Amino acid sequence: MNVLIIGASSAMARSIAHQADKGDKLILLGRDIDDINDIASDVSLQRGAEVHPLKLDMSDRDSYQKVLTSCLETLGSIDSVFFCHGVMHSQEDAADDEAAAALMLDINYTATVLFSNLILKSMLARGEGNLCYLSSVAGDRGRQSNFIYGSSKAALNTYVEGLQHRLRNTGVHALLVKPGFVDTGMTWGLPGLFLVASPDKVASDIWKAVRRKKYIIYTPWFWRIIMLIIKMVPRFIFHRSKL
Ligand SMILES: NC(=O)c1ccc[n+]([C@@H]2O[C@H](COP(=O)([O-])OP(=O)(O)OC[C@H]3O[C@@H](n4cnc5c(N)ncnc54)[C@H](OP(=O)(O)O)[C@@H]3O)[C@@H](O)[C@H]2O)c1
Repeated sequence: MNVLIIGASSAMARSIAHQADKGDKLILLGRDIDDINDIASDVSLQRGAEVHPLKLDMSDRDSYQKVLTSCLETLGSIDSVFFCHGVMHSQEDAADDEAAAALMLDINYTATVLFSNLILKSMLARGEGNLCYLSSVAGDRGRQSNFIYGSSKAALNTYVEGLQHRLRNTGVHALLVKPGFVDTGMTWGLPGLFLVASPDKVASDIWKAVRRKKYIIYTPWFWRIIMLIIKMVPRFIFHRSKL
């Protein structure tokens, strides 16, 4: 399988790369090419497989087509794409700093949709492919503590849901992943975290779901129940919470 991993310096992306099948060929994409080079060497050494590093800054839309062409030239075809990039500013920063909010919304949602739309063209032409989008439980219900970040993931959820409908009977499959708290750079030092999962556990759940052609997973699984309860709490009680 030929695999692209976007935002490859993320801890979850690294675990996804390490857990790919031995025969898979990988392209790791990220904006800090020195970092991506090191990660690619490490994954290649540990897995004994073909791994290519490639620069991709998701805020540089003009580069998308060139990057994709380069991926296709390297691999011949693209079977699976993992969208692991993301930005999370605190609610306070996002509310007070227009540039921070705009960047977060752009990288988490707009950039993902635009890059995804381009990849889809080649997958639909071949009639096969897997797309995997890292969303978040934060998109399930707006909470005062991080609803600007959450709204970027909620928008992504709607995109993927509609895409899954569009892809019916095309041979191309889209998976929506909703992790709970995961031990990565994004959550480092944040207060109030609980039931924090390891990136390896999340990556293992993701690979299982990709292979089984699942449509949506919560990872770890118990977040499905937690979010079901959170979504069911009546507004007059919810608004009294500190969530
Ligand atoms: N950690 C959690 O608890 C959690 C929970 C639910 C969902 N998620 C989602 O899971 C995904 C992975 O997050 P993580 O926790 O692994 O966080 P992370 O370690 O902060 O990784 C975020 C990744 O996004 C990349 N990125 C940011 N802006 C970019 C840009 N303009 N172009 C290309 N890449 C860019 C970062 O690259 P640099 O290294 O260059 O900054 C990094 O590789 C994100 O979508 C996040 O929203 C995380």
